[in-house]
Amino acid sequence: MKVDVLLGLQWGDEGKGKVVDVLTPDYDVVTRFQGGPNAGHTLEFNGEKYILRSIPSGIFQGGKVNIIGNGVVLDPALFKQEAEALAASGHDLTKTLRISKKAHLILPTHRILDAAYEASKGAGKIGTTGKGIGPTYTDKVSRNGVRVGDILHNFDEKYAAAKAKHEQILRSLNYEYDLTELEKAWLEGIEYLKQFELIDSEHVINNYLKEGKTILAEGAQGTMLDIDFGSYPFVTSSNTICAGACTGLGVAPNRIGEVYGIFKAYCTRVGSGPFPTELKDETGDKICELGHEFGSVTGRRRRCGWVDLVALKYAIMIDGVTKLIMMKSDVLDTFDTIKACVAYKIGGEEVTEFPYEIDDNIEPIYAELPGWKTDMTKMQSEDEFPEEFNAYLTFLEEELGVPIKIVSVGPDREQTIIRYTEE
Ligand code: GDP
Ligand code: IMO
Ligand code: MG
Repeated sequence: MKVDVLLGLQWGDEGKGKVVDVLTPDYDVVTRFQGGPNAGHTLEFNGEKYILRSIPSGIFQGGKVNIIGNGVVLDPALFKQEAEALAASGHDLTKTLRISKKAHLILPTHRILDAAYEASKGAGKIGTTGKGIGPTYTDKVSRNGVRVGDILHNFDEKYAAAKAKHEQILRSLNYEYDLTELEKAWLEGIEYLKQFELIDSEHVINNYLKEGKTILAEGAQGTMLDIDFGSYPFVTSSNTICAGACTGLGVAPNRIGEVYGIFKAYCTRVGSGPFPTELKDETGDKICELGHEFGSVTGRRRRCGWVDLVALKYAIMIDGVTKLIMMKSDVLDTFDTIKACVAYKIGGEEVTEFPYEIDDNIEPIYAELPGWKTDMTKMQSEDEFPEEFNAYLTFLEEELGVPIKIVSVGPDREQTIIRYTEE
């Protein structure tokens, strides 16, 4: 068997959580492979709303195995909060959720370092989620990290050594901080973690594949936030792309099956950094309002704009996307005209290949299509799609060269339309 991967193709918040939940009945196992509590994945069903940060979105579909893979960075304090809230709402995860021993721990001082580095960047700050993601991955790569498996061996010593290094850096930055509360909650989180099965996830996952079990890997963030291929330096600190599923789970590239690429019918970005199709006008405000575009974790207003096919094609190429999923189509239900950026104008030249430098000098060139002006939120099948919406889908499929397999018309699990397959 193979691992299917679901990835955000834009700057995150495409609706990954919702679709992973919808697809989970087809899988035995759901895994996260990168990122950490910088993610906020929203699911809605039966009138309830859940926001997951470190826990895979496959937990609500009856007893499936969910795994936090080695590529994830885990904050025990935030994990405890998340898991306890789920347990209180009737979702006890201690039997179904397993955690890789090789996942790295976000330390309290990583969170403080994140804030200190941001403060030192001034106006050039990344606008991180403040969860300590960058400093934790930095320690992983510089071989100073503390891993989940370390909880079981010489933990106090390893924690003290890492903390001392961080405190030295913080002193050199003259950064004032108070660790007391953070550390207390964190150490409670470490104890809490011990009731979960801490596993050698690369063995477990490859054994599952041998046994014929089906696995879905759930991406966090999006391809344009990838550390190598995103809008560097305004990116996150992990490989959010398909290849990240190989390193973040320990599965070989030839074990990857379908690659689901998920995008919004428009585009958003939260935090700093370039965004060529951003709309700083009434249309942008209208998308923000209709799409409720506020961060699920931080509450920050998301910047909004038209869909960017130059960036999407790039993401599809890097990820090897085999099937597309278009989200939040309903947000555009009332628009007279829908725009899609088909090329960039840079210094008088038209560019269709995503360039090295993306900055304010890029002028998007748009194709304009008629809006469908129909409420799509109650539609159940593609037979009900308005003609203009079908024309928009055909236009996107021709431009992007990949079929759109699922269309989402609202936040609820039920507001999801699987299109006919012609394989
Ligand atoms: P993720 O991080 O990719 O899982 O996405 P988020 O949960 O951060 O953001 C997506 C937001 O859009 C959430 O509030 C979802 O409930 C909501 N959502 C998902 N799909 C749809 C849709 O098709 N239409 C509308 N209107 N909202 C959606
Ligand atoms: P999900 O999984 C949207 C952004 C931050 C910031 C940059 C770096 O919900 O799609 P970090 O804290 O990772 O060092 O921040 O990345 N960012 C996200 N934006 N959705 C996310 O996750 C994000 N995770 C990080 O806003 O610009
Ligand atoms: Mg999100």
